[in-house]
Amino acid sequence: MKKILVLTLVVALMVSMLLIGTSCTQEQATTEESAETEATETEAAETEAGSELIGVTMPTKSLQRWNQDGDNIKKQLEAKGYEVDLQYAENDVNTQLSQLENQITKGCKVLVIASIDGSALGEVLKKAADAGIKSIAYDRLIMETPNVDYYVSFDNFRVGEFQGKYIEEALGLDKGNGPFNIELVAGSPDDNNAFLFNAGAMSVLQPYIDNGQLVVVSGQTDFTTIATPAWKSETAQARMDNIITAHYAGGTKLDAVLCPNDSTAIGVIAALDNVGYGSADKPYPIITGQDCDIPNVIAIIEGKQAMSVFKDTRTLAAKAVEMVEAIINGTEVPVNNTEDYDNGVKVVPSFLCDPVVVTKDNYKEMLIDSGYYTEDQITK
Ligand code: BGC
Repeated sequence: MKKILVLTLVVALMVSMLLIGTSCTQEQATTEESAETEATETEAAETEAGSELIGVTMPTKSLQRWNQDGDNIKKQLEAKGYEVDLQYAENDVNTQLSQLENQITKGCKVLVIASIDGSALGEVLKKAADAGIKSIAYDRLIMETPNVDYYVSFDNFRVGEFQGKYIEEALGLDKGNGPFNIELVAGSPDDNNAFLFNAGAMSVLQPYIDNGQLVVVSGQTDFTTIATPAWKSETAQARMDNIITAHYAGGTKLDAVLCPNDSTAIGVIAALDNVGYGSADKPYPIITGQDCDIPNVIAIIEGKQAMSVFKDTRTLAAKAVEMVEAIINGTEVPVNNTEDYDNGVKVVPSFLCDPVVVTKDNYKEMLIDSGYYTEDQITK
């Protein structure tokens, strides 16, 4: 009898525990449900307030321009009520990949990406696309993937053309002058822009090399040989050091160096400074550049660098922000080129801004009057 009583008690206890358990699970479900409802409500409220999270990834802090790009995009997006996750990857592809993974996990609605290796983002962008996230290639085209939705940049072929034309006019090549000695520098082979800058410049210079008005004394003309991985000043300097020692030590005059951007121009200037260029009998050759970085604007004022191409990062950022807004609001995304930017898989709808040549003659108007720099910033 005692046994039966104990057994009944145990069964009763188990049944009541089960009941309590069920009600706990129900309670939990209800709590989860209401949390979910709250989250959806918050999300809806956020949508109304326009405070979605936008992921912005830049290649490196080590170059002035990317700091400006990042700051401008962040400022402009925040002014419109968006939240911004801004990341820099110090030119390391894997770091950039994990930053993008994080941004996908964090629920970014749009990714704005200035890639390090334009061909390395296929997998991560597939994940983004599967999660309904749109991607904008910023400044550098993202290659070999269908999952890049838009491209915003400057007309990069024209940047190169400007550099080539500057050399053409400064040496009077178009008037038949020559022969002149030139050396060629190109950008980073993992950056699609590097090929465009080079193609633009060579579209002007190649005919003069072919007809002998320009002589590449080192003989180094193919892209791989003249490329500067990661756009490093030190790499450009080391290559120029070698070229000077091997080909110009005996007093051969160097008339021009085609540099695709300011970081490579800085390296070339350093190599020339080390061997006494800048004196009356050894004037600086014509050196081109791009970005109007502060040290280069100073070099232009000092007569070391002849020109740079100004790509106003405020304009580029504003266009990227317009694209983000249009994507979020489901309105028409601004593009002005739907033909030329083929990334190997598709033609990416693009918006290209206009670059401008900056020299000693117009830097005040272009850079100071426009509020890009203060006079103090470019005074040594
Ligand atoms: C940009 C240039 C920059 C270079 C090095 C290119 O993709 O278009 O403005 O100088 O990268 O960062």
